Amino acid sequence: MDSSQVRLINLIEKLSLYPQIVIRDNPEIFDTYKTSNIHNHGRYNFFVSNLLQINDCLTKINTNSGTVSFDKVGENQLVRENNKLKNELLSFNPWRKGPFKVLDIFIDSEWQSNMKWDRIKPHLPNLQDKNICDIGCSNGYYMFRCLEEKPKIIIGFEKVINYVFQFLALKKFAKNENNIFIVPDNFLKFSNNKTNFDLILMLGILYHLKHPNDFMNIVYNKMLSKSTLILETIISHTDQSLFFNKNERYAGMKNVHHILSEKNVIKILKDSGFKNIRCVDKAFTKTNEQRSTEWMGFESLENFLVDDNTTIEGLPAPLRAVFIAEKK
Ligand SMILES: C[S@@+](CC[C@H](N)C(=O)[O-])C[C@H]1O[C@@H](n2cnc3c(N)ncnc32)[C@H](O)[C@@H]1O
Repeated sequence: MDSSQVRLINLIEKLSLYPQIVIRDNPEIFDTYKTSNIHNHGRYNFFVSNLLQINDCLTKINTNSGTVSFDKVGENQLVRENNKLKNELLSFNPWRKGPFKVLDIFIDSEWQSNMKWDRIKPHLPNLQDKNICDIGCSNGYYMFRCLEEKPKIIIGFEKVINYVFQFLALKKFAKNENNIFIVPDNFLKFSNNKTNFDLILMLGILYHLKHPNDFMNIVYNKMLSKSTLILETIISHTDQSLFFNKNERYAGMKNVHHILSEKNVIKILKDSGFKNIRCVDKAFTKTNEQRSTEWMGFESLENFLVDDNTTIEGLPAPLRAVFIAEKK
């Protein structure tokens, strides 16, 4: 297949990432593959040809000590093939979220996302047969963790091409999982669609939003009655929220509009209609949770802190909180 002519939807079909009947039964999801402007991205053809080269095989997904492993069912891979697979997977870098293990390849991502998941997991409602949404799902690490809870459907939204292709590369090894999907577009474009959710995960998103109130109103409207929102975000250390101008950075990050106080986050959720709002966890981000690796070769947290308490911009170091809120 000539990668320069392949549309994402044709690629999904060609690679049999989902059975035809699943594609037919979920037009809301797969129509976004036709309309998403990810095709216009300069690296699109490069990623398509890399995805086509990966030789997949039947695997079983296991989670061992926080690593989502795609373990081969049957005999071992040849070492020679492993090197090829490693380079193919590396080509979708940076791998920010993980860790994963694909056959014998350990993907040592920048974030030990299992640490965030450990802070969230005790607060998950029963997810069996439920609709789950992950806004800004990156490569789907938390979606693969949700699979353990036997949900009906998991839909992640991600607008960055590298992460969408990381998910698709992993999905090549998870062809039997037909209830886990990525929408390669902005969550907001899905707001008029029919599907609503029992659980929405919104992790690491709030501080990137220019208009958090408007966004939370839309999130609220996408939730079924008796549903749960899990919102994880950086909060300020005091009752004072921090606001940033364009081009200002926080801990090296661009596009941070604000770091809200715990009270302000609760107020936004309350104003959107959420009930029973509580902050269930607070943790400082340390360099054992976020660091540079072979799979993410750029600077990481240690380059953006002067010490445990202060960022290079002279601001308080990142403190992350988990909020639970309900729609009655
Ligand atoms: C800071 S990362 C957090 C990733 C992950 N949720 C986590 O907590 O580890 C934010 C991700 O969300 C994506 N994102 C942010 N807003 C989005 C939106 N409205 N729709 C789809 N993706 C979004 C970004 O592209 C980025 O990959």
